[in-house]
Amino acid sequence: MSLKDNILEELKNNRDFISGQALADKYNVSRGAIWKSINTLKKDGYVIDSVTNKGYKILSQDNVISSDEIKLYLGEYSNNINIQIFDSIDSTNTKLKSMATEGAPEHTLIIANHQTNGHGRFGRNFYSPSQTGTYFSLLLKPDFNITSATLITSMTAVAICKSIELLTGKTPGIKWINDIYLDNKKIAGILTEASTDFETGMIHYIIIGIGINISTKDFPDEIADKAGSLGENISKNKLISSIISNIYDMYYRLPDSGFINTYRHYSIMIGKSITYKIKNVTHTGTVTGIDDFGGLIVLSKNGDTVTLTSGEVTILSF
Ligand code: BTN
Repeated sequence: MSLKDNILEELKNNRDFISGQALADKYNVSRGAIWKSINTLKKDGYVIDSVTNKGYKILSQDNVISSDEIKLYLGEYSNNINIQIFDSIDSTNTKLKSMATEGAPEHTLIIANHQTNGHGRFGRNFYSPSQTGTYFSLLLKPDFNITSATLITSMTAVAICKSIELLTGKTPGIKWINDIYLDNKKIAGILTEASTDFETGMIHYIIIGIGINISTKDFPDEIADKAGSLGENISKNKLISSIISNIYDMYYRLPDSGFINTYRHYSIMIGKSITYKIKNVTHTGTVTGIDDFGGLIVLSKNGDTVTLTSGEVTILSF
């Protein structure tokens, strides 16, 4: 084995820092040679933390979700964030909801490799197999009154699209209101849940849940023709941190909703014929735009213009 491979093994087998001197002594080389190999490993894509007087520690290997690595990429946003990673959990939204009820602080981020009861809007199942996707939920406690929850979901959809485009070069699209599509297949979904004070309308907390199919290939029969994946072996840590920092960039500018222009840019809805439901009655119409709060503007078949702020729409033909 080369010196570089030996060092990689040492770092992988050691969850703590190893000093450059200890490595140099063990392999009977200079500290300069160790430093050179560490730099080559970094160029190879390994994320290695180097701290004076402590040495080296590997932060990521084989696309393992690592809170250290996520914090590294989050930069200034990492200061308040509290990350918890689960190998398998029922649902990151459900877990975070119970933590929020028990007083979990704002910026708690729950990430899972696998969900046994991942779900989306209307209680629908969100297929969350082990390792091939990423599933996470972020807790926010805005100290202002958000008049439209639609805006939080729209902001998140923009954050996901920007990150996917940055990391893969592929351009995804947003199907109103909470689905992300690539090549006419749904590759990601958002479930935004809020707890509000009934009397004042003030928000106690908001949970933004995000599920992304990264390399999932085999989907259950009922979604096999609609679901797809990013199809790229990208770093989960980079993807999660990029989405979270995009969300914060927009969240801290609220109530400025300038990001709606970017939402319009990624939207796959404009000009599409759709069906939508109002009070359980199905209507048909054509999408003419997105309003400044993320609402869907539709010209109905009978000539009325309506703005949808919730509910579900079906695109008649992609
Ligand atoms: C939808 O398709 O309607 C939204 C799907 C949202 C799925 C994510 S995965 C992480 C978080 N935990 C859940 O149970 N749901 C969200």
